[in-house]
Amino acid sequence: MKVLKATSGIFEDSFIKSLLSKMTIEEKIGQVNQVGTSIYGGKEEHYEKLVRNGSVGSFLSIKEIEKANKLQKVAVEETRLGIPLLFAEDVVHGFLTTFPIPLAESCTWNSELIRKTAEIAAEEAAAAGIHWTFAPMVDVSRDARWGRVAESFGEDTFLTEEFGAAKVTGFQGNLCNGQLDRNRLIACGKHFAAYSEAEAGRDYNTVDLSSYKLANVYLPPFKRLIDEGVLTIMSSFSLLNGIPATTNKKLLIDILREKLSFSGLLISDWNALQETITHGFSKDYEDAVKKAIDCQLDVDMSSLLYLNTLKELIHRQVINESSLDKAVYRLLSLKVKLGLFENPYRSSPEHYATIINKSKEYRETARQVAEESIVLLKNEELLPLKNTDKVGFTGKYLNDHNSMLDTWACKGSAQEIITVAQAVSEKKNKQYFILEDAYNDFKKDRSFKKETINLISKLDKIVVVLGEKATDSGEAKSKAILGIEQDQLEFTKAISTVNPNIIVALMNGRPMIVSTLLPYAKSLVETWHLGCEAGSAILNILEGKINPSGKLTMTFPRHEGQLPIYYNHHHTGRPYQLEKFNTTRYIDISNEPEFQFGFGLSYTNFSIDNMQVSKLKKNSWQVSIDVANLGDRDGQEVVQLYIGAKFGTYARPVKELRDYRKIKLVAKEKKTLCFQIDRDTFAYYDELFNKLVDAGEYLIMIGNSSQIEQKNMTRIEVEE
Ligand code: GLC
Repeated sequence: MKVLKATSGIFEDSFIKSLLSKMTIEEKIGQVNQVGTSIYGGKEEHYEKLVRNGSVGSFLSIKEIEKANKLQKVAVEETRLGIPLLFAEDVVHGFLTTFPIPLAESCTWNSELIRKTAEIAAEEAAAAGIHWTFAPMVDVSRDARWGRVAESFGEDTFLTEEFGAAKVTGFQGNLCNGQLDRNRLIACGKHFAAYSEAEAGRDYNTVDLSSYKLANVYLPPFKRLIDEGVLTIMSSFSLLNGIPATTNKKLLIDILREKLSFSGLLISDWNALQETITHGFSKDYEDAVKKAIDCQLDVDMSSLLYLNTLKELIHRQVINESSLDKAVYRLLSLKVKLGLFENPYRSSPEHYATIINKSKEYRETARQVAEESIVLLKNEELLPLKNTDKVGFTGKYLNDHNSMLDTWACKGSAQEIITVAQAVSEKKNKQYFILEDAYNDFKKDRSFKKETINLISKLDKIVVVLGEKATDSGEAKSKAILGIEQDQLEFTKAISTVNPNIIVALMNGRPMIVSTLLPYAKSLVETWHLGCEAGSAILNILEGKINPSGKLTMTFPRHEGQLPIYYNHHHTGRPYQLEKFNTTRYIDISNEPEFQFGFGLSYTNFSIDNMQVSKLKKNSWQVSIDVANLGDRDGQEVVQLYIGAKFGTYARPVKELRDYRKIKLVAKEKKTLCFQIDRDTFAYYDELFNKLVDAGEYLIMIGNSSQIEQKNMTRIEVEE
């Protein structure tokens, strides 16, 4: 068996160059072609033929270790140079163990948990033969109409940097001698760049924005991932300022390669190279490929344009072979980092079996993350449930496995999801009543059965599980209407006429319009799509076994007409004043959101006061704040630090999150928190993505949401 010896680190370069010198043009072109298995309809004989012909360097969506190793054997033993394959997959929020969607996880404000779930997902996926995940997605998301907000970490750039970096560390681990551990994956920062700025919140739609906004909202998370050592980046589908991102030289060369100093591998999104023709930018296949190579797009995902066009273009010297060599070098470098030349088979069915046995332990983590993802949005004394409460559980998503598993759930299965109904049944609590048919009865006859009304009227509280199905969020799932489905709303109203003590558990992949629901929900818990332990986590929160600590990372609008809506907006020259007509406002609804960024209630109360700012030296301060748990129940609070510039080289947002602490306080406990701030805390970017700090007056603001009390604001002066 031809096994090419390669070691990573300093010998990597000489190994790769030596291998490159032996490769034919066809073999080089094969390496930069990524085959999405669905383009061949899952016909495995096709894949083997492609491998034998040297026409493929990596596959997308081979998820079984046996299939991966079988194809790897063909590559290593039946091709001239025996170059191993890479296997890629969208391991976004779990592989075997399905964790909460990233938008939910971001509401934990817990980087360690966010890293941990990526680490577990990497171990499970690597055991299945996968080498490369297309995650984390670090598209800052401000428009809930866009279905992919589910995959994001919300609307704040700073949090997206933090949590994206945690994912990269979880997926890739720390390279040892330039090599990834066998339980780790190559990560991919996506989608470069500003894909989430899709006009009107419609997926794949045009993106047109200022360099200033690109530099301050969308680029910093990619800079952070690159600083964190992310090995690959994916270009986005969108037209960006008139040129498709996938062949946008200003974006991919001036910014990504030069400004951000990214030297890793750039891959297109699915068929995005061909779509540059549909965009009306590339004239034809050859034009598209020429432009892509000029942009150092290293791998073509599933358009086959590189495979079918590159040889001719190099033959005619339209493209220089050295450009192809650069792309192939980057791909081979990934294979060296995975140790594939020494051991092309990183896993085996036996190893995979050992990982499957860990699923019970990993579900424990899934439940913990799910519990911390839940945000308590409203609570008029109904929660937590009391031991004496007689409680009914009903609603459209009470026992709907399929609705909780979203499009990037990999090998996670709907049947493995613990629903609310299952969690309630497992409690065997004689005071809990599952009214599973009530929703369907109501949908059919717009009324309840007599016995249902009887029971509901005798209960202390009713938990109604509502929301949107998981497949209504994610890619290609943009929505113009974000309100609660009419049937669900009428059902809730009808229940409230029999028993007004309604607790709504909302399951959704995006902020929804809940203004019509709120009058009928005395308590409202945002539970997102929480993955395999959804029901257990929700019930633990409702029963108060866990005190909710989640904080919104995306603003909840009052109406779709407010979109896009986000906390770190600009002042404008006529800031919003409800009573003044000529200010930036609507004449028909308030500007205010339903629930603001950073908001989330607890079963206990926290006080945040006694803010002190002490100057340590020039442009260096310590900010302290006292946080007390005033209640008789332990809990966690997220204390958030925002800055606000009075003026600057550019107008700055009204406030910007710059630091936070998530702290545990037992009942009646009080702690003093200290934040260190310095000149860098106030940094931002000019339109050329040069870092900038303006001397001048700033507000430092601290609170447990983006709504800050006057007493927790202090002015400071940043000096030149
Ligand atoms: C999809 C998505 C991208 C994903 C890729 C491969 O269209 O845009 O996020 O990684 O194709 O599945």
